Amino acid sequence: MDLSELEGELANCQACPLRQDAIAPVGWYGNPESPIVFVGEGPGQVEDDYGCPLIGPSGQLLDKALWAAKMTRDRVLTTNVIKCRPKNNRTPDIAEADFCAKQWLQRELEIIQPKVIVALGSVALHCLGRPDMRITRDRGMWFRTEQGFDCIATYHPAYLLRQYG
Ligand code: URA
Repeated sequence: MDLSELEGELANCQACPLRQDAIAPVGWYGNPESPIVFVGEGPGQVEDDYGCPLIGPSGQLLDKALWAAKMTRDRVLTTNVIKCRPKNNRTPDIAEADFCAKQWLQRELEIIQPKVIVALGSVALHCLGRPDMRITRDRGMWFRTEQGFDCIATYHPAYLLRQYG
C-alpha cells in the first residue's frame, strides 16, 4: 500500500461518528520523502474548509517556526492525529484520538518511515508517547514511539497563540 492508496481509503472513512460533522477527512500535506514529520491534533475550521492540515492560525505559526529553521512546509510532511474536525472545534477525547490514530496515522507513518517525528501538543504526544508523558514536563525530550520512530514533542502552536499571540 502506498500513500495515494491510503488517501483514497481515508476519503471514504466512516469508521467513527466524527465524520458526520466534518466536510471530509483531512489527510496529510507535503513531502512524503521528508525525514521529518509534524503531527498536529486535528483539523479546525480552516483545515476542514480547505481539506489541508495546519493551514489556519496554528499552521501559520508553524510556518514561521519552519522559516526560522530555514525550512518550508512543502519540504516537510504535516499531518494530524484526528482526521475529521470535531464539532465546534472541541478537543478530541483520548478514545477518539487513539481510534483514529490506529486507523490512519500509524499506517501513514508505517509508509513514510520518517527519521524524526515532532508531536505538536498533548494529543499528539498522547498518541505517540507513553500514557504517562506530559507536554509540560516531557516536551523537548527524545523518545521512541511504539512503532520505533524517534519523536520529540513541543507545545501546540494554538497554545502558544493563546499564551503569546
Ligand atoms: N489545524 C490542524 O490541522 N491541526 C491542528 O492541530 C490544529 C489546527
